[in-house]
Amino acid sequence: MKTEAYVHGYHRRENERLQDQAGTLVDLLHSDTSYPSGSLVLEAGCGVGAQTVTLAQRSPDARFTSIDVSADSLGEARRATEAAALTNVQFQRADIFALPFAPESFDHVFVCFVLEHLSRPVEALVILNRLLKPGGTMTVIEGDHGSTYFHPDSGAARIAIQCQVEVQRLAGCNALIGRQLYPLMVEAGLEAVHVSPRMVYVDSSRPDLVDGFTRKTFTAMIEGVRESALEAGITDPEAFDAGIRDLHRTAEADGVFCYTFFKGVGEKSRGVKPA
Ligand SMILES: C[S@@+](CC[C@H](N)C(=O)[O-])C[C@H]1O[C@@H](n2cnc3c(N)ncnc32)[C@H](O)[C@@H]1O
Repeated sequence: MKTEAYVHGYHRRENERLQDQAGTLVDLLHSDTSYPSGSLVLEAGCGVGAQTVTLAQRSPDARFTSIDVSADSLGEARRATEAAALTNVQFQRADIFALPFAPESFDHVFVCFVLEHLSRPVEALVILNRLLKPGGTMTVIEGDHGSTYFHPDSGAARIAIQCQVEVQRLAGCNALIGRQLYPLMVEAGLEAVHVSPRMVYVDSSRPDLVDGFTRKTFTAMIEGVRESALEAGITDPEAFDAGIRDLHRTAEADGVFCYTFFKGVGEKSRGVKPA
């Protein structure tokens, strides 16, 4: 199904988008993620390895097991780590809902841009929590398309964004999941959960972000649902294309674009009851 193919990052253009996104957002999302020497880290839903390379480079003495359901994406991820000469990552094809690991196998779990694609995100977090050793940590990063605002403002652009949210919803996904990270992680049984918003602010004094984020990440992602949105009868071609034009307009010299990611970190219970 086209929608499935899009949202899971299987298309080449989508893969390039994920790589661009990761490159531009590395500091914003990863500056406070590093794992100690010798620790075992599970990356669930690694996709084409856009985060894997950063994680493994930043924690060269940790050992990563990166899993995904897509064999094609795993192939790309493997090539990306080989190109970066990384030797601390092993890849495995697996489904988060049927993982081949014993309970308490990992010191840390990392999940990025995956929950938004799952119809049962809490169940996924419960399964991943079980794989953590007591006191281990889980890091979850998600976006939230409702956090988007820009200048010049445009109703057409907001409707085009809403098309993406709706296409995701019809596919059982949730493009507004970032704001729910705290309650989802708490419901899954994680302790000491802390969520921090990470806002990307873009104006023309940051041409790298104008190109890497506003154009190649966000606007490209919205453009990517054109066919699915038209097929689902959510919009018509003229309205959608006008919204995309207005999103590109925010990347001009006087344009401004804002988007917020959410990063949550929680701990697996140590099982010690207070006296
Ligand atoms: C948007 S991509 C994100 C990839 C990567 N984490 C990143 O940040 O670039 C979502 C990934 O989750 C994977 N995925 C979706 N459902 C999954 C499941 N049940 N088990 C394992 N991987 C899954 C998809 O195949 C896809 O590669």
